[in-house]
Amino acid sequence: MAKVEVVSIASREDCGALDASDVLAPQREEFSLNDGQIYLDGNSLGPVSRSVKARVNEVLNAEWGRGLVRSWNDAGWSEMPVRLGDRLAPLIGAKAGEVLVADTLTLLLAKLIGGALAQRPDRHVVLTDVANFHSDLYIVQAMAARAGRPVSVKAIERGELEGELSEDVALVMLTQVDFRSGEALDMKAISTQVHDAGALMLWDLAHSAGALPLDVTDAGADFAAGCTYKYLNAGPGAPAFLYVRKSWQGVLENPLPGWQGHARPFDFEYDYAPANGMQAFVTSSPPIIALAALDGALDVWDHVSMEQVRAKSLALTDLFIELVDARLPGVFEIVTPRDHAKRGSQVALRHVDAYGVIQSLIEHGVIGDFRDPDIARFGFAPLYVRFVDVFDAVERLVDVINTESFKDSRFATRHPVT
Ligand SMILES: Cc1ncc(COP(=O)(O)O)c(C=O)c1O
Repeated sequence: MAKVEVVSIASREDCGALDASDVLAPQREEFSLNDGQIYLDGNSLGPVSRSVKARVNEVLNAEWGRGLVRSWNDAGWSEMPVRLGDRLAPLIGAKAGEVLVADTLTLLLAKLIGGALAQRPDRHVVLTDVANFHSDLYIVQAMAARAGRPVSVKAIERGELEGELSEDVALVMLTQVDFRSGEALDMKAISTQVHDAGALMLWDLAHSAGALPLDVTDAGADFAAGCTYKYLNAGPGAPAFLYVRKSWQGVLENPLPGWQGHARPFDFEYDYAPANGMQAFVTSSPPIIALAALDGALDVWDHVSMEQVRAKSLALTDLFIELVDARLPGVFEIVTPRDHAKRGSQVALRHVDAYGVIQSLIEHGVIGDFRDPDIARFGFAPLYVRFVDVFDAVERLVDVINTESFKDSRFATRHPVT
């Protein structure tokens, strides 16, 4: 892995020097970013890139604009969910033909949970993480209730599988990088443990894809799914991705079948017959404009390696942690693990007034976000975040804390989106 050295308690000049030798620095030019603003929320919504705009414009003007309905054939629209899955596959260590882009993450989780439960008909328990993203918790409970047999969901402490993997466990569903703390789990160790117990393993990679190198093949994951609007920069509400290991294809059934996953959609048959491969997991007409945005967003990834991204991600998060430690000792609890092996690409700071801290920081030109009850969250997307951004963000954080601007009564009421 390429090494990016971080000087302890860096000066702004040190950070400038790191930017000058950063192999990823040119990628920043691809993105629309506001002058003077530091964007540390790409773990929630990545910025738009030139290639996204170009590809969406191509669809609007040429494919939809002039081609109209013929573009389902002529522009390859029907194949986009599978073709883009193949494009995305290397980013998660999957092979071509194992990934699909469709729906949104919660819906893809529903498909995988429903399909997986049908594969373990004699088992009655799903294990998940009590602090998992709430949408994961809602959908797993809903799918368990509709399994056609009694299935209970047991929410355990994150990653604490010891003593939980009884012979009644059908499925384990975990999010690899925790959305609050940014803690990363060891996918291979956990998947192995789960398989040893005869259960199936489903990974939510929402905060992992585009953030750190992944190898679903080597990890032995059965199934995985994740977002494309975070580190992959495909736009608000962009379609999600779904991974089904080759050995499960033709076996795992899509519990939400639709005409687009039928073997012969234009025969309009009464009975459902699944298409081959990943196409069977498509339900509805693909959202072409949104898929075009993802197509454009993936162009950026053709020019970088995940090893480069990871090296810079760790250097950026190390730098942020060091500067917060040095400049604001005792003000925050740094919730994110300091151990590289356990860290995603975000840093979470605990503070009793975290909402006010984030709101005041936004007014100071640093965009992060707040996660209930007390987490100020900062995402470090190596494609466009610079080392000087980290330095300046911490300086502005020092200002927010020293002036106590976070206590302003305007921040007593929360916005609907935090
Ligand atoms: C870990 C995790 N799972 C699931 C979701 C839900 O994704 P979607 O809105 O695409 O259903 C999110 C959204 O941020 C998430 O972070």
